[in-house]
Amino acid sequence: MQKPHVALVGDHDAKLIGQLRERFTLHRCMDPFAPADLPTDIRRSIIGLVTSGATGAGRPLLQSLPALRAVSVNGLGLDRLDTELCKERNISIATTRGVLEQDVADLAMALLLAVARRLVEADGFVRRGEWNERSFPLAQRLSGRRCGIFGLGAIGRAIACRAQAFGMSVGYVTKSSTAQEGWQRFTDLQSLAIWADTLILAAPLTTETRGAVDAQVLRALGEEGILVNVARGSLVVEEDLIAALHKRTIFGAGLDVFDSEPRIDSRFASLPNTVIAPHIGSATHQTRAAMRDLTVQQLLSFLEDYRR
Ligand code: 8YV
Repeated sequence: MQKPHVALVGDHDAKLIGQLRERFTLHRCMDPFAPADLPTDIRRSIIGLVTSGATGAGRPLLQSLPALRAVSVNGLGLDRLDTELCKERNISIATTRGVLEQDVADLAMALLLAVARRLVEADGFVRRGEWNERSFPLAQRLSGRRCGIFGLGAIGRAIACRAQAFGMSVGYVTKSSTAQEGWQRFTDLQSLAIWADTLILAAPLTTETRGAVDAQVLRALGEEGILVNVARGSLVVEEDLIAALHKRTIFGAGLDVFDSEPRIDSRFASLPNTVIAPHIGSATHQTRAAMRDLTVQQLLSFLEDYRR
């Protein structure tokens, strides 16, 4: 039997490409927001699509694939995928929910610790031999802080457990109606920021959450405030964040995601109170292997159901 035709959107690691080629006839589309650059007969034969959370797939691409039945996202975020069109055309969507949350929560804590204890600055200080000349400036204690979590999905919960283990109290804002005993619920981000001195972003990017962290929220976080973002860059008004970091109206920020990544605002790189990472929340050997397996498996089962 012929292998089903599948489109792979964007740049992916060789292992995922290899696993997909074993099961599917694979076609590459590099631009997620343009019609597929493939001959018409190929476009018409494509029934599955693989993309990542950070890459997505826009309307022109999906519209150029008239036989598409299923999208398998190698990641969690759906903000770059045209889910409306998928709904209209009854295209199934799968994500790698359940395998990457613990890694993202680990990275949130790593960024928080690095900012609070000025770890990157300390590393540079020792390497440059400055330890012989003067003592390193004091940092911030983590235990006893108030950790506000914006978005209490699986990632937010995993962060909350870690924050508690570090002796922090936990507050949160979430859309879901389930209350969480022992953690304080707030109705909106501004009230959470007034209560918290640490704000960790773990919410999906939607029209409601875009630009939610602005100058007002950052002011409420206060001078000892730390912002950590492991969700999406566009949750934050970056101009306001850069101003707050520059004027030190907050203590610092740990950022894994940026508005226009991978081409980030260059001012982030020159702020000493900022620790930055290249969107590596799920980037461990173990988690990426589990994500690959799930991405392939979910697409296979969707397409088997369809062909049955
Ligand atoms: C993914 C992400 O790891 O899950 C998401 O939505 O943004 C990332 O954490 C990325 O898409 C790589 O596949």
